[in-house]
Amino acid sequence: MTPTHLGPAEQLFSAEAVQAAIQRMAVAINADLEPLVPHRPVVVLSVLSGAIVVVGQLLPLLHFPLHLDCVQVSRYGDKTRGGDLLWRLTPRENLLDATVLIVDDILDEGVTLLALRDYCFSQGATAVRMAVMVRKDRERQQEVPVDYIGLDVPDRFVFGFGLDARGLGRNAPGIFALLEEDAHG
Ligand code: IMP
Ligand code: MG
Repeated sequence: MTPTHLGPAEQLFSAEAVQAAIQRMAVAINADLEPLVPHRPVVVLSVLSGAIVVVGQLLPLLHFPLHLDCVQVSRYGDKTRGGDLLWRLTPRENLLDATVLIVDDILDEGVTLLALRDYCFSQGATAVRMAVMVRKDRERQQEVPVDYIGLDVPDRFVFGFGLDARGLGRNAPGIFALLEEDAHG
């Protein structure tokens, strides 16, 4: 167990391991999107607030022209269990004919990512790619076509590197899992 300001937690990945995973994602994203040589820059859609850290690390590793935009949709609020989808911020970029790269912190059920993908297509995007820093190892009701995955984590509540637990822990240097008894807030 590692002491953190959220209490003792299990470190699943060190900061270095997460950074290496983000670098691998960047290589794959560059390989896919660079040859597209878009007539318009790729719109990178950062899903606030959790994706801030991964986007901050990923962006300088991408080699193609891009616009950075943000969206804020939350399902969980301050709770560690599911809730309704709440749109707080929609993209400002015109997505018509755009190639969009949605970047999120975690693929859990995938409801958020699927809703964002539908939104981008409804705004006229021609291609939508999705990248997540971590994917939770769990069953999903719907197939979620995520193109780039940094790391796989067990089906536990995790925090760090942008991911929060009850609003805290986004600055934890690595990916940590709450102890079972704390996991459901
Ligand atoms: P989904 O729609 O079920 O995929 O939920 C996605 C969102 O829930 C993520 O973008 C996170 O903000 C949040 N979330 C899901 N699981 C976790 C977790 O283990 N730690 C922190 N946030 C989580
Ligand atoms: Mg999120």
